[in-house]
Amino acid sequence: MAIIGKDIDLAKEFLQNNQLVAIPTETVYGLAGNALDEKAVLSIFETKNRPSFDPLIVHTDSLDKLRRYVTEIPEEAQQLAEKFWPGPLTLLLPKKDIIPDLVTSGLDTVAVRIPNHSLTLRLLATLDFPLAAPSANPFGYISPTTAQHVNQQLGEKISYILDGGECGIGIESTIIGFVDQVPTVYRMGGLAIEDIENVIGKVVLMSHSSSNPKAPGMLKSHYAPRKPFFLKDRNEMSEMSDDTSAYLLFDRFIEEIDKKNQRLLSPSGDLKEAARNLFAFLRELDAQPVDHIFAEFVPDRNLGKAINDRLKRAAAID
Ligand code: TXA
Ligand code: MG
Repeated sequence: MAIIGKDIDLAKEFLQNNQLVAIPTETVYGLAGNALDEKAVLSIFETKNRPSFDPLIVHTDSLDKLRRYVTEIPEEAQQLAEKFWPGPLTLLLPKKDIIPDLVTSGLDTVAVRIPNHSLTLRLLATLDFPLAAPSANPFGYISPTTAQHVNQQLGEKISYILDGGECGIGIESTIIGFVDQVPTVYRMGGLAIEDIENVIGKVVLMSHSSSNPKAPGMLKSHYAPRKPFFLKDRNEMSEMSDDTSAYLLFDRFIEEIDKKNQRLLSPSGDLKEAARNLFAFLRELDAQPVDHIFAEFVPDRNLGKAINDRLKRAAAID
């Protein structure tokens, strides 16, 4: 298994030697390597079993450093960066040649973000290269929100996990690109669309298509547990209640069903708490001795939109 600790110098040493280190962020844990080194980047793809057509996010700790990696920062991107970084926002910007094509899967934009986690910001500040880091899970599975989640699935394959505790937001960053200069949401995430629109006005939502995945995080089947996973409403659930199923609910138990097979994302109905619990609870239910997992949608506003997006993808429906 990997070493788990809080030693930034050790993490730095591994990264300088082209080894991979799992890093905490406010969204989910990332599987990090030197973004400027093709060998390190290749080993990220191999370790995750990730197809090479699915590009990576490059993490850095300042706008000054970011300018080394992108040729241009449009006005709206600059406004969003100033308002929300460090934070759960990823911007797609035209890349400079210094970023290997492997990182961007040959695209001419690179995904960049300044994450909001003190340990990782301190690590990034000591490095003279940025970190490419996808979520630290095997491709297609649920993203990790604790060091232990990372260790369970990738512990055999990586050297070090920088332990920053439980991720405060718990759902991946919101990805914004600029299609013909129009701000476009490629992936809903930890920064609510409402907050983005308060700064730059209306944005366009990109619909996902598995035949032409502009952002393969948009593939329909993704973020999925291993057990068969279905979306149902509460009435349907209470009618079919049985011991062979587990239930992921928003804020209230279903009386007819044994509580040990139910998880409430937020008993007080708080969407931020629900987002923080989503992936950990999906993992827990996936490990229960049941045959299926059923989930209900949460209210479709603010972070609820990103939660519902992940639920739909886990169930592989449009
Ligand atoms: O919160 C997050 O974003 C986390 C933490 C670790 O920062 N990272 C993360 O990375 O979720 P990953 O690799 O699991 O998801 C990145 C998504 C993928 O769906 C990828 O297709 C998309 O970003 N992406 C990356 N570069 C892109 C580009 N140039 N154009 C379109 N989509 C891009
Ligand atoms: Mg991912």
